[in-house]
Amino acid sequence: MQILVPHLKDITGTLGNELSGRKIALCATGSVSITESPKIARLLMRHGAEVIVVLTPKAAEFISPMIFEWSTGNAPITKLTGKVEHVELVSSSSRVDLVLIAPCTANTLGKVASGICDEPVSTLACTALGARIPILIASAMHEPMHRNPIVRQAKEKLEQAGVKFIEGPLVESKSKIAEPEEILRAVMSLIGNKAADANKGKATPNRNEIERDLSDLSFVITAGATREPIDNVRYITNASTGKMGVALAEEALSRGARSVCLIHGPGVAIPDGFRRGDRIQIESVVTTQEMLESVTSRLSREKYDVLISAAAPADYAPASPVAGKISTSDNPTLDLRLVATKKIVSRAKEDYPKTFVVAFKAEHALDNEDLAARAFKALKTSGVDLIAANNVSRTDIGFGSDFNEVYMVMKNRAGAKHLLKASKNEIASGILDAMLEEIQSTSSASL
Ligand SMILES: Cc1cc2nc3c(=O)[nH]c(=O)nc-3n(C[C@H](O)[C@H](O)[C@H](O)COP(=O)(O)O)c2cc1C
Repeated sequence: MQILVPHLKDITGTLGNELSGRKIALCATGSVSITESPKIARLLMRHGAEVIVVLTPKAAEFISPMIFEWSTGNAPITKLTGKVEHVELVSSSSRVDLVLIAPCTANTLGKVASGICDEPVSTLACTALGARIPILIASAMHEPMHRNPIVRQAKEKLEQAGVKFIEGPLVESKSKIAEPEEILRAVMSLIGNKAADANKGKATPNRNEIERDLSDLSFVITAGATREPIDNVRYITNASTGKMGVALAEEALSRGARSVCLIHGPGVAIPDGFRRGDRIQIESVVTTQEMLESVTSRLSREKYDVLISAAAPADYAPASPVAGKISTSDNPTLDLRLVATKKIVSRAKEDYPKTFVVAFKAEHALDNEDLAARAFKALKTSGVDLIAANNVSRTDIGFGSDFNEVYMVMKNRAGAKHLLKASKNEIASGILDAMLEEIQSTSSASL
């Protein structure tokens, strides 16, 4: 395999290191969805992976291999030569950690299920299956092809052999390829650093065996800002986008959480996969009072083990919202009287003391020592179990950013734990690790 221009790999790890040290063979086949493949390659690289592209002859007709050279910094494999590339990619020195076929046509699916190896993608997939390298297939095809019983049988056969599938929605009579972010999540849960470390020494990594350390826990997670009406058209809010809460829900689900209820404010982008998930419920609210009612109603109806309050509920609301629209000509100046809203975490902890509560504390322009000190003070007064404090005056992390950096303080730990700047998914994973550690140390102390 020829290594091309190193500067093309400059994007490696810019969004996270979950896949660092992982090598992925990204196989693309002759589907219109191949336009997504360079995006998928770049996204995997941005999360630390090395990507080697393998193309069927039809795929190389649809999109020039040159695009993949540019996307990955590696020469794509378009035909098998005397170097036996399919063997090289599964042999110890340059063994890939995953074969990802995205998009996968009905044709390639059928060939792999039947052991046909007549071009680079089917040959690599067949070799990888024998070499016990995980295979993930993101199929894309017209609905009749997808419904074809023979195609379905081929899929079932591959699933029995341990191949994993990720499917997108059925739209305009097409079974679409899953979104790049959903494919990334599936890749991370198969071979992300945590998953792969958990599988070290095992010959056949199997999705069911991959780290599912949250499978005993159910979560209520809040996300985003709330709005408090001034009149029927104006409101008070803040800059929270809900990305941190969504990342926490994603991580909890990928680590096997029994159930997740995501309660979010207006404008939060909910991943498509959440709408199809069977372990996730989604509720949308507008005001802080509605968020409070939604959280307490959830906690009263079902037993939830953990509440993670990642939302930034508006903490002041106009004392007397006006019906209709306040006229500026009648009111050239306007005095607003604001009242503090109820604190969701304190109320939840008071009424449901057995629920483990994680709270976020947004502080403005403090140094790190002050940040940790304020978090410790809040831990004592609020009664919550873990506080993640961040500095919202920084524009490179926090509100709206894909990154965060937090100081965590918890009841059973003397000092603060610092999670350095990383993607919100990595920070979410670090918070869940600390939460689990704290739950375990509390239950062992009470034995
Ligand atoms: C424009 C176009 C789009 C196609 N899209 C798909 C598709 O999304 N899924 C699929 O299974 N086949 C699709 N096909 C048919 C495949 O290209 C055809 O079955 C081909 O033999 C697949 O070869 P490969 O699997 O070796 O890449 C498409 C064909 C054309 C001309």
